[in-house]
Amino acid sequence: MTETLESIAQAMVAPGKGILAADESSGTIKKRFDTINLESTENARRDYREMLFRTTEAMQHCISGVILYDETIRQKAKDGTSLVDLIKQAGSIPGIKVDAGAKPMAGHPGELVTEGLDGLRERLAEYYDLGARFAKWRAVIDIADGIPTAGCIEANVEALARYAALCQEAMIVPIVEPEVLMDGGHDIDRCAEVTEATLRALFSRLAAHRVKLEGTILKPNMVIAGKKCPVQASTAEIADKTIAVFKRTVPAAIPGIVYLSGGQSDVDATANLNTMNEMGGFPWKMSFSYGRALQAAPLKAWGGKAENEAAGQAAFLHRAKMNSFAAMGKWQASMEKPA
Ligand code: 13P
Repeated sequence: MTETLESIAQAMVAPGKGILAADESSGTIKKRFDTINLESTENARRDYREMLFRTTEAMQHCISGVILYDETIRQKAKDGTSLVDLIKQAGSIPGIKVDAGAKPMAGHPGELVTEGLDGLRERLAEYYDLGARFAKWRAVIDIADGIPTAGCIEANVEALARYAALCQEAMIVPIVEPEVLMDGGHDIDRCAEVTEATLRALFSRLAAHRVKLEGTILKPNMVIAGKKCPVQASTAEIADKTIAVFKRTVPAAIPGIVYLSGGQSDVDATANLNTMNEMGGFPWKMSFSYGRALQAAPLKAWGGKAENEAAGQAAFLHRAKMNSFAAMGKWQASMEKPA
């Protein structure tokens, strides 16, 4: 079958499948390894990711694609197979993070704008040759007193749209990720308001840059109260408000919405996704593109020790299966192992 942007995007949100975000930058993976007292060397990063990608059952049945970091897309497993080939052999699609990170935005105290457009056309061509068939660019929108400003939203969605157009030119499906952070003390309605404004601005810029929606995947936050908000919404309210905001702003031509976990607990991220799919009544697939909510358990079980590899893989398989059920609205709390 000829590969098209549409066919890749559809495969990324195949029934019961979602994305493993394993694209932590060197700085972020160091923070994750610090939690298990492991030094972040090139080999340790390779060993950890090789363990995940060799979890065959999870990769074959639950994980449609893996987002890699520049170092990882070039790495080889201990037996010399490239990590990209390990992913492909499991029937999953390699992807690549291409943004250069969120940097302080000039003239906008407390706000960030994502960089990485310079030279992106050339980098995308190289990543395509290395096997990447989709990419990710993350924009960060923070909520606090007086922010986000219109200027911050506009700068970030303009960059997302330029990135998406360049990806499609290179036959790479763009994952567009405008993440409204859940770090503050704001309530769920404020998150809904900011998420709605951001998505409205994003789809206007995607249209202006002639981005083909059928070959684009959206990776958003769920509509959720800030972690420090004293009133936390129920799963039903999160699902209800998230679906309502997306129905107002996301065109039906988008094949799929894959959520980031953003600091939700493993089980909350699964339960919220499941509730939305149980409710249904929307035109897109809804699945996951989790980093922490898929990796926290395997990272802890592995602990940086070769003898714990099987335990790490078992923990990864469990979370991958739970989220696969949630992507179909078939998860139940009783499927979770007792703590
Ligand atoms: P989390 O699921 O840990 O938020 O990470 C997903 C991701 O890729 C953020 O860019």
